[in-house]
Amino acid sequence: MKRLHFGADYYPEHWERGRWEVDARLMQQMGIQMVRMAEFSWHKLQPQEDVFDFQWLDEAIALLADYGIYTILGTPTAAPPAWLIQKHPEILPIDREGRVRGFGGRHHDCQSNPIYREAIRRLVTEMAKHYGENPWVIGWQPDNELGNSHQELCTCDSCRQHFQKWLEKKYQSTEALNAAWGTAFWSQEYNDFAQVPAPRITVTGENPSAMLDWKRFCSDLIVDFTREQTEIIRRYAKNQFITHNYMGFANKVDYYKLGELLDIVSHDQYPGGFYLSQTPHEYNHVLAATLDIVRSYKNQPFWIMEQQSGITGWEIMGRAPAPGQLSAWALQGIAHGADAIVFFRWRTCTMGTEQYWHGILPHSGNPGRRYQELKELIGTMEPLMGRLQGSMPKPQVGIVFDFEQEYAFQIQPHHQDLNYTGQLLKYYQAFYKQNISVDFVPQQGDFNQYQLLAAPLQYLMSPELEDKYFNYVRQGGHLILTMRTGVKDLHNLCMADRELPGKLSELAGVEVLDYDCLRETHVEVLFEGQKLQANIWSDLMRLRPETKILASYASEFYAGEPCITEHSFGSGNCYYVGTEPGEELMEALISQICRKAGVEPICVPVPEVECMTRENDKTRFLFVINHSSEAKSYTVPQGYHLLWGEQAGKLGAYEVQILEIEK
Ligand code: GLA
Ligand code: ZN
Repeated sequence: MKRLHFGADYYPEHWERGRWEVDARLMQQMGIQMVRMAEFSWHKLQPQEDVFDFQWLDEAIALLADYGIYTILGTPTAAPPAWLIQKHPEILPIDREGRVRGFGGRHHDCQSNPIYREAIRRLVTEMAKHYGENPWVIGWQPDNELGNSHQELCTCDSCRQHFQKWLEKKYQSTEALNAAWGTAFWSQEYNDFAQVPAPRITVTGENPSAMLDWKRFCSDLIVDFTREQTEIIRRYAKNQFITHNYMGFANKVDYYKLGELLDIVSHDQYPGGFYLSQTPHEYNHVLAATLDIVRSYKNQPFWIMEQQSGITGWEIMGRAPAPGQLSAWALQGIAHGADAIVFFRWRTCTMGTEQYWHGILPHSGNPGRRYQELKELIGTMEPLMGRLQGSMPKPQVGIVFDFEQEYAFQIQPHHQDLNYTGQLLKYYQAFYKQNISVDFVPQQGDFNQYQLLAAPLQYLMSPELEDKYFNYVRQGGHLILTMRTGVKDLHNLCMADRELPGKLSELAGVEVLDYDCLRETHVEVLFEGQKLQANIWSDLMRLRPETKILASYASEFYAGEPCITEHSFGSGNCYYVGTEPGEELMEALISQICRKAGVEPICVPVPEVECMTRENDKTRFLFVINHSSEAKSYTVPQGYHLLWGEQAGKLGAYEVQILEIEK
C-alpha cells in the first residue's frame, strides 16, 4: 500500500472544468498527496438508468495524477438520484411514524430494498471494473458515514420482511421468540413470524426485548449492505484498500463488525462542529476519546477521512478555529494513532446544504490563512510521518465498550441523564485529566493486555462474559465494575436467579439488595475523609466479610452504608462502584485505583495540555498538545528529546510538540 499521509476531500463536479488544474497545482504546492472524490455523485456517473458517464471522473483522476495526487473513490450510494426514485419510489425510507421521507437531502434510501440493492450492484460493478486497476486509484470508501441520517429508519414492508427472516433464522420457532421476548406480557404472543412488525410508534410503551433485536437487525442490515459493495470491489480491485468514514461513537451500526469488512477504519473529526458545545475545555477529553474509540475498532492505526479545515456550518455556524488550532486538532488525530489526515473539504462550496461548511480554501478559491497554516503543517510533518506510521499507543488501561449495552440503555436509560457512552466518558475523563491513556476494548477483546480494566454498566450479561471477568481478575487484573451490572440476559429479560450483579457478586464481594434512582437530586459520599457528590443512582449493598469499603453514602436514608468497594480475588482486585461518581469523586477514585494497579501517567498533568504516546519496537513518541490560547509549560519527562517544535517544555497557544525516546 502507498504510504500517503495528507489529503483533501475534493468535489471537482462542483466547479468549472477550467478550475481543476488550478486546484491540482495549489494542492501539489501545499503537499496534498491524495483526494477522496465522488461519494455523492451518482447522477454525474449515471445520469440515466442506462447511461454511465465516467469521463469527467477519469479526467479529474488523470489531471490530479499529473500533479502526483492519488485518488480514493467513494461509491455514491448515499445519494440515489431523482430518476431512480421517480421510477421506484418504494426506495424512499419510512420512519417510525409511518411517514415516507422525501427526496431533497441525502440517504433517502431503504437499505434492504431489493431494487435499490440491484441498482447499487450495477453501479458499483461498473465503477469497480472501470477503476479497479487504475494505478492512481489507491482505495475505496463504500457509501458515506453509514448509519448517519438513518437513526430511526426504516420501517417499510421490505425492512419488516427482512426483520422477520432475521428473527426466524435466530429463533427457529415462534415459541422460542415468544419466550425470548417475554410476549406473555400484554398479550404480545406471535403465532407466526409474519405477524411481527417493524417497530412503528405504539400507542404506549415498547417491548424492550423486541427493540433490542430490532437494533441488532438494523446494525446487521448496514453490515450486509456494505458487504455487498466490498465483495464487488474486491473482485475487481485487487490492489486497492477499502475503508469507511466512521463517526466516532455513533451507534447505529456495530463498528467492530463493520470493521471486519475493511482494511482500514477511517473517521470524520470535527472538533468545532456547530452542534457541539462551543467551550472546548468541556470537550477536549471527548475529542481524545473519539479518536481512541476509532483506533480501538480494529485495534490498529486509522485514517481521518474528513478533518475539519475551517468554520463548520449548515443553517447555523460554529466558531472560527484560531490560528494554530486546525493544526493542533490534526496532530491530536496523529497522536492517537492516525496514519493519514484528509481535510474536509478542499474549497468551500457555493451551493447546497453545506455552503457554510468551510474548506481549506474560502468561497473565492484564493489561498488564505487556513491554506498557509495547513501547508506549513504538512511541510514540516511529512518527513516525520514515515517514522510514525504503524506505531500505536500502548495504554495500560482499557475501558470496555459494547454496542449492545449502548442499545439496551437507549431503550431503557433508567434516569433522564444516564446514557451508556456518556457514562463511559465520565470514567475516560478522569484518566484523561491524569494523563493516563486508554484503549476501548470490545467484550470479545483481549482483557489481559491491560493492568486496569474499567467495565461500567455491564448491564446485559452472559456466562461467557462473566467467566472472562473472573479470569481477568484471577490472573492479577484490576477490574472496575459498576451499578447496573448483570441485570439482564442477552434477550433483555431481567435475571432473577440471584441478587445483582448475579454471579459476579462473588468477584465483586457485594450483593445489591436494593437501589435508588436519584431523580433531580444527588447523594453525598464520604471518600478519603472528604464529602463529595455522586449522581444518578445508589446501589444498596450487603458485603462479604472480606470486602473493603472505599466510600460510603453520607446522605439519604442509607447514609453510612457502603457505596464503593474493593475485593481481592485470585491475584487481582475487583472494585465495585454503586453510583455515578461526580467529577471530583471520580478523579480521586480513579487516581487511588491507578496507584493500586501500578498504572502510571505519561507525564505530570497540566490543565488543557494533552499528552499521548505512540510507539513501535524501537521508539516511543510523545505528543504534547496545548488546547488553549494561553502559553503553557510542562515538565519534559526524563530521557525524551524534542523532535518537532520550538523549545521543549514551553508551549505557545495551540502549539504541539513531539518528543521521542529510544526504548
Ligand atoms: C460529514 C459528511 C460530509 C459532510 C460533512 C460536513 O462528515 O461525511 O459529507 O456532510 O459531514 O457536514
Ligand atoms: Zn425499508
